Amino acid sequence: MHGRIFSGIQPTHGIHLGNYLGAIRNWVVLQDSGAYECIYCIVDQHALTTLHDPGAMRANTREVAAALLASGIDPERSILFVQSHVPAHTQLYWVLGCVTPLGWLNRMTQFKEKAGKDREGAPLGLYAYPVLQAADILAYRATHVPVGEDQKQHLELSRDIAGAFNRKFGVDYFPLPEPMILGEATRVMSLRDGTKKMSKSDPSDMSRINLTDDPDTIALKIRRAKSDSILGIWYDPENRPEASNLLTIYAALAERPRAEVEAELRETPFSAFKTRLAELVIEKIAPISARMRELLAEPAEIDRLLARGAERAAAIAIPILEEVYRIVGFLPPVSR
Ligand code: AMP
Ligand code: TRP
Repeated sequence: MHGRIFSGIQPTHGIHLGNYLGAIRNWVVLQDSGAYECIYCIVDQHALTTLHDPGAMRANTREVAAALLASGIDPERSILFVQSHVPAHTQLYWVLGCVTPLGWLNRMTQFKEKAGKDREGAPLGLYAYPVLQAADILAYRATHVPVGEDQKQHLELSRDIAGAFNRKFGVDYFPLPEPMILGEATRVMSLRDGTKKMSKSDPSDMSRINLTDDPDTIALKIRRAKSDSILGIWYDPENRPEASNLLTIYAALAERPRAEVEAELRETPFSAFKTRLAELVIEKIAPISARMRELLAEPAEIDRLLARGAERAAAIAIPILEEVYRIVGFLPPVSR
């Protein structure tokens, strides 16, 4: 074993092809490599910073769990669980909050983006978000954290917080977690506008492929995807963002280098390329969607797997939290 991996995904919405290629598929590859102990968490407490809809929170939590299981996360080999089921995260979060200077949090670009103009009206949770993220990782003393590009700054902060704790208490307790930014498809773009990220917040459902889409819907979305009138397909994100995005998706799903696929498609008309792409997306995604539907038809089974995952996660996190409490000098409760 090379170390322990921790990563998290928010249940703010269902899963689309961008999440699958940018995050989930990497989690499966890391699990299957057998080189790491893998801990994967559905971070509902992070989602609560922006999602205030209990029904959606419950449905999304199960949908994300189903997407992870259907994509190949094996709940025996990996630990898969829901953040709010393991209180050690928020307990450690408080301790870490007491060694994190406000100046560090003020630099976080995600807070600035999400708070927007109304800084005064933004909730404390949104500001403290990266401290909870550090607690997620450090509660397991994880060594490696697979994330998308957008999480680099939060990971840097997690390392700084780990270092601050160690220095303040004169210990060498927390390892500094390493970010792992993997894969070629780190930014899958919208099907309607190749300069915008594929995102659940886009009002048009035609802009994305959802993991729950059936084959007809997938075929339709790709047929309608924005294209250009240049003959042949090649990579040129500046001048041909849509062609470049679809080419990247094709290569990522085919698990082949982009340059190799590009050489093959240089003279293929856009419409013929779309037909091939639709076939490939359906071949790779339809079995996952079908499995997701089966899993979601039995929510009690998902809940049971998640409960088992939380037990295994807590068995690692509780002794680490106890050691942290000892290091900071909290008087242990004695049993009477
Ligand atoms: P989010 O949907 O923003 O909560 O992100 C969940 C995970 O999916 C994160 O690891 C993101 O980096 C990744 N992700 C989200 N959208 C995309 C996208 N369009 N392309 C690649 N990765 C993405
Ligand atoms: N902030 C991450 C995101 O939006 C999700 C996350 C929460 C996370 N805790 C984590 C990722 C710990 C890695 C490790 O994608």
